[in-house]
Amino acid sequence: MLTGESEKMEMNDYILEVEDLSVIRSGKLVISDINLKIARGEFVGIVGPNGSGKTTLLLSILGILNAKSGRIRIHGCEPMCRSNDGRISWVSQAASNIPNNLRITIRELVKLGSISSRNMFFPNRKKIDVVVDKAIEMVGLKDVEHTDVARLSGGQRQRAVIARALASEAEFIILDEPLVGIDRIARSSLLKLLDELCHDAGKTILMVSHDLAAIRQTAHRMIYLEETIKFDGETSEFPDLTEIAELRGINPVHDESSGHQH
Ligand SMILES: Nc1ncnc2c1ncn2[C@@H]1O[C@H](COP(=O)(O)OP(=O)(O)OP(=O)(O)O)[C@@H](O)[C@H]1O
Ligand SMILES: [Mg+2]
Repeated sequence: MLTGESEKMEMNDYILEVEDLSVIRSGKLVISDINLKIARGEFVGIVGPNGSGKTTLLLSILGILNAKSGRIRIHGCEPMCRSNDGRISWVSQAASNIPNNLRITIRELVKLGSISSRNMFFPNRKKIDVVVDKAIEMVGLKDVEHTDVARLSGGQRQRAVIARALASEAEFIILDEPLVGIDRIARSSLLKLLDELCHDAGKTILMVSHDLAAIRQTAHRMIYLEETIKFDGETSEFPDLTEIAELRGINPVHDESSGHQH
């Protein structure tokens, strides 16, 4: 079927398009019937209980896991296609748990992010330095750039791994639980940074977090995932805890007969 010009335009507005995606791991259906579109510049948060398939969804989007059925398009083509090389970046769950015996400075760590198959063999050193400088500045670690990662606080480490993702110059950044293990103040400044990356640097962000309160403060749009997407909408519309229990098919502790209100 030929694609009309207007349809093509519409397709290109989306960085990510997931259609009817189901994924099986070790013979078990982990996520099913996922439909999701993310437009350029959106900041989308994903929440859901342990084992609900959040990481599985991210790994599928990255093209690491194969779909049982359905379709994923990033910039209109398959996740691993050549034209997506360097356009998508991943900050993994526990990425900032860098072993303490690894002697590496922040600048060196961030520079690792600038390696891609595009520039591995013919690196443009000057350009790499500019990109690394910018990434370090964006996350506010300039004054500690030559410090060993092992000597950083949890929040600073998390910033360093985000800078590493930025050094790839990817426009689509996927983060899995970036808020774990950092204190409240570092957490809100990290969220502010992510928000700025969206608004000022034109990045598109998809972030998984258990921290409902924190993600709610920042994400424009939220998804509740539990095998499938049970809520997808504006953050202001996100259900409260009682409604989440209903989404999960769990009865509130005080049922209607007791007359309690939460
Ligand atoms: N490598 C694997 N092989 C088989 N099953 C797996 C594998 N990894 C995860 N699973 C299963 O897939 C389901 C979803 O796991 P996933 O890691 O995607 O959940 P999650 O929502 O990210 O959980 P968490 O909040 O704990 O990070 C779980 O039931 C898990 O046991
Ligand atoms: Mg996970």
